[in-house]
Amino acid sequence: MSPDIHLHGLKKSFRSGDVITPVLKGIDLDVSCGEMFFIVGPSGCGKTTLISILCGTLSADSGEVMVLGHDLRSLSQNRVTEFRAQNVGFVFQQFNLIPTLTNCENVAIPLRLQGKSARESRQAAALMLERVGLAEKINERPNKLSGGQQQRVAIARALVHQPALIVCDEPTSALDSETGSQVMELLRPQSQDKPRTVIVVTHDPRIYHHADRIAEMEDGVVRRTLSQAEALRTFGISPQT
Ligand SMILES: Nc1ncnc2c1ncn2[C@@H]1O[C@H](COP(=O)(O)OP(=O)(O)OP(=O)(O)O)[C@@H](O)[C@H]1O
Ligand SMILES: [Mg+2]
Repeated sequence: MSPDIHLHGLKKSFRSGDVITPVLKGIDLDVSCGEMFFIVGPSGCGKTTLISILCGTLSADSGEVMVLGHDLRSLSQNRVTEFRAQNVGFVFQQFNLIPTLTNCENVAIPLRLQGKSARESRQAAALMLERVGLAEKINERPNKLSGGQQQRVAIARALVHQPALIVCDEPTSALDSETGSQVMELLRPQSQDKPRTVIVVTHDPRIYHHADRIAEMEDGVVRRTLSQAEALRTFGISPQT
């Protein structure tokens, strides 16, 4: 079976005036369907740039970017936007919830973007909020919630349209250890779910044991990819933490 994500020779530079700064310098990476795949590495090494390219919010300068069978570099901007709306869920460090909407309305956004009716979207959003343990907060606004609860709303929003790919940028760094662990458990597919691939960028060794594999980036390249067992040994982490 071909991998869900295949990146080869991926390069990206940013230009500021006359200065061009290479940020991704030839990324090779394959991620299989259903993997919980972590990307780690020092600040500024290109992690956010990399995941922005693999979900199509940023375009690569060169290389192959195959995601869920789509060659993202060959698609028009409209098709990439459509691809993202159908296939990708996002979770960010600072939750990125819209404060003027209720939790239910926030979670319903991906379904509305797919053209589902307001009523159908609200019903599915309410069910998803129940699944993440927030049945009582459906009609409240995000600012009444704790950080962990806000991140659970954000996860409900990422999962509600059952995307094949979830992309998370530092999902636990604003949370305490136990809440961070609960958030990671919610991201792992349950038996009744559609298979999904989860990419997590993180600085947080407390959650490394949730990874199936970990890619270590350094200065714009993937230095090595470790299995869970290798990663736990390498970073001296016990599987129970
Ligand atoms: N839009 C942009 N324009 C110019 N430079 C950028 C842009 N986005 C990122 N960069 C630069 O690219 C490099 C990599 O940034 P990126 O955000 O991918 O790093 P990161 O690994 O996610 O870091 P962190 O762990 O701090 O979030 C940095 O030097 C950053 O300044
Ligand atoms: Mg980043």
